[in-house]
Amino acid sequence: MYVFFTIFAHNLSYFAMNKTEKYQLLYEQVKALLNKENDEIANMANVAALIHETFKFWWTGFYRVIDNELVLGPFQGPVACTRIAYSKGVCGTSWKEAQTIVVKNVHDFPGHIACSSASQSEIVVPIFKENQVVAVLDIDSERLATFDETDKEWLEKIVELF
Ligand code: SME
Repeated sequence: MYVFFTIFAHNLSYFAMNKTEKYQLLYEQVKALLNKENDEIANMANVAALIHETFKFWWTGFYRVIDNELVLGPFQGPVACTRIAYSKGVCGTSWKEAQTIVVKNVHDFPGHIACSSASQSEIVVPIFKENQVVAVLDIDSERLATFDETDKEWLEKIVELF
């Protein structure tokens, strides 16, 4: 009974957390994970899983810059496009502009690449090494206008941990 109550209370407090509180917890979890492991793929896999589980997004994953193309990396969610050219789609644009792109409605973004017809809004955050974009974090939502300045701010802080 005590165990049941403890788990129930924990879940209740989790559901009561607002977006910033969830990101604060997520940030500490990512920091702890990345402190223990240097392998980039292993870290991307766990970070994708953590973000995806925390917010129950539609798709959460990484594309890495390899030979002047974005190549699909670790992700959670449905099967996705494997390669994206420089400046194409939201991911290629984020790479080109070297900045985060928040898309409230993917149908309004010229050149958006629809890996899944369920995706309605999206955020793409570039990851830098020595001032070069080496990868992007891409998150899709099946609802419109899911992402805002809070997501941008925290996801940028999280990818800085790589
Ligand atoms: N929508 C992205 C393509 C990647 S998938 O969403 C996973 C884009 O336009 O670049």
